[in-house]
Amino acid sequence: MKIAVAEIDLSALQHNLKIVKQHAPNSKVLAMLKANAYGHGTTQIAKSLSGADAFGVARLSEAVALRAAGITKPIVLLEGFFEVDELQIISNLGLDTVLHTEQQLQQFIEAKLPRSVTVWLKVDTGMHRLGLPPSLFKDALDKLDQHPNVLGEPILMSHFGCADDVEHSLNDYQFGVFNELKQQHSGECSFANSAAILSFPQSHHHWVRPGIMLYGVSPVLSTLAADFNLRPVMTLKSSVIAIREVKKGQSVGYGATWVATKDTTLAVIAIGYGDGYPRNARNGTPVLVNGQQYPLAGRVSMDMISININNTDSVSVGDEVILWGEKLPIESIADYAETVPYELLCGVTGRVEKRFALGSNEFINQS
Ligand SMILES: Cc1ncc(COP(=O)(O)O)c(C=O)c1O
Repeated sequence: MKIAVAEIDLSALQHNLKIVKQHAPNSKVLAMLKANAYGHGTTQIAKSLSGADAFGVARLSEAVALRAAGITKPIVLLEGFFEVDELQIISNLGLDTVLHTEQQLQQFIEAKLPRSVTVWLKVDTGMHRLGLPPSLFKDALDKLDQHPNVLGEPILMSHFGCADDVEHSLNDYQFGVFNELKQQHSGECSFANSAAILSFPQSHHHWVRPGIMLYGVSPVLSTLAADFNLRPVMTLKSSVIAIREVKKGQSVGYGATWVATKDTTLAVIAIGYGDGYPRNARNGTPVLVNGQQYPLAGRVSMDMISININNTDSVSVGDEVILWGEKLPIESIADYAETVPYELLCGVTGRVEKRFALGSNEFINQS
């Protein structure tokens, strides 16, 4: 019986990388591997993305683990270093660093490094999260110019705040600021995340930075992966472990939030928030058993959920259940849980066994 298994289809991952390249044929690909490759398992995903040009992570520990696993491609620390001591490791391991504050820039310039490092200079074009103010960009470039710590020319990068919403006015504003910065810079540039790769060809430049679309999830609001010919990489599965009859008026689960309006049959499934299935998935969230969708009934517990199988006898103990993935879009489950697919994927817990495969029938256990 499959109990809380995440099947990771590496052929879907490779297909999605092809889609990235179809949209941005002239750009290099910085594939996002942060947060355990969006919950998919960093090392396996990295090994399977040999067609990418570089990898992006958010923590030094993630980069160190990739190097320890034998990954030799460029790895970019998207938030740079948090402590100045980390610069020695960055330099020794041949990692790339983002610089996004004046303080980081200064610390980088003053450091004595064993090897020069590729720098991605992050400028805030309007998201107002990370990045130097645009007015400091030229000065930062001048400080880094010909500096022995800098390998090659710094790469200009910025990040969209609302690319998932094609019509959002912030997009145009950010384009305007970015284009002015570009004119001050002769080196490479990077702007596009997944949504921009699909919606804004004019943002592709030298490097695109796909994350969620690689994992087969739509980055654009109110659309599904299939709308962009993306294939889900993760399918979260478990099994039916009990069939229960409840009488009209009886409630189900903690808090008695679901009450049977007639005598009903329920199936209990071994998946819960202890596995990363979202606790706030509401009554009615679809769950797939034997190709048929059934609604969630009652609160999600730590280890179990119940679904209303509506008195059918076509569901039995031991039947395989799909919580999201192939044939059940995670975008839809995220809507029911009032969250985003990113959070669902990253939230899959260590208790869930990962099985990797290149084709659909050859999943290999690997946690
Ligand atoms: C700097 C940066 N670039 C690219 C991405 C990839 O974004 P997405 O997963 O939406 O493609 C992220 C993710 O948050 C990011 O922080």
